[in-house]
Amino acid sequence: MVMSKVLTISGQKGGSGKSVTAVNLAACLSLYEKKTLLIDCDPQGSTTEWSGIKAMGYPFNLSSVLSGKATIIQAIVKTDFHYLDMLPAGFDLFEVALKLAGTVSNEKILRLLLEDIEQEYDYIIIDAPSSYGFLSVAALTAADWLVIAMSTRHNAVEDFHCLLKLIKYIRHTHKNFLKIASILFNRCKTDAEIDQFLADQNLSEIKDLICPTFIPEDEAVKNAIDKKIPLVLYDIKSPASSAYLRFAKEMVLVFK
Ligand SMILES: Nc1ncnc2c1ncn2[C@@H]1O[C@H](COP(=O)(O)OP(=O)(O)OP(=O)(O)O)[C@@H](O)[C@H]1O
Ligand SMILES: [Mg+2]
Repeated sequence: MVMSKVLTISGQKGGSGKSVTAVNLAACLSLYEKKTLLIDCDPQGSTTEWSGIKAMGYPFNLSSVLSGKATIIQAIVKTDFHYLDMLPAGFDLFEVALKLAGTVSNEKILRLLLEDIEQEYDYIIIDAPSSYGFLSVAALTAADWLVIAMSTRHNAVEDFHCLLKLIKYIRHTHKNFLKIASILFNRCKTDAEIDQFLADQNLSEIKDLICPTFIPEDEAVKNAIDKKIPLVLYDIKSPASSAYLRFAKEMVLVFK
């Protein structure tokens, strides 16, 4: 029986590259013939938009599932990639989340829903929203592993320590094994830039968790977003595509 690895993409607030990473990690894993499910857990719907499925249309989304209007199996849609399925989201997720928030047991809802389909996938990748609200707690509670997207453009210390507190809360409240699989730097130019950033931010202790690959700043990322397709479909030879393919391979090796 195949048991999937559930990885939530979390990280700094506002624009560190969580959604770009969720879409492109999922697309690259599927290119390696890993059966992957990409879940958008953010009412912004960036992952849904950039995965290319919007053009294909779909009857249900994550809020339909959370509000009991559809089963998770009914809401999962196929993508242009043979090994990649998606559970989309839209702004209506915001209202459903408001209704579910405030009851601690509801924070496990996504994790419980995934039990029905976990065996179907090698990887389940969840894009978490930035805020520390119900949806980010639900997205982290659903996961066994976290990938933290970081950018040297933002101050990291406060965000990182808030995230550690959130991980502690989830481990304690929901008794789940939630570990940091990797910290992925995005929009960087060199390894030296990352080292300098960690020193400046007093974060040298997290060095062992930093992924050997970083994602470079690359116009192709923005162009793929404009075209609303994953980067590897837009330009598989672009520097950021190569980096995401390398990163996905590193993730496969981590979970071998
Ligand atoms: N490697 C990159 N090269 C160039 N631009 C990038 C790169 N990564 C991200 N961006 C730009 O940064 C923007 C923000 O990225 P993204 O939406 O993935 O961040 P996020 O962490 O998900 O943000 P939010 O907190 O709003 O959910 C993208 O729309 C894109 O324009
Ligand atoms: Mg995002």
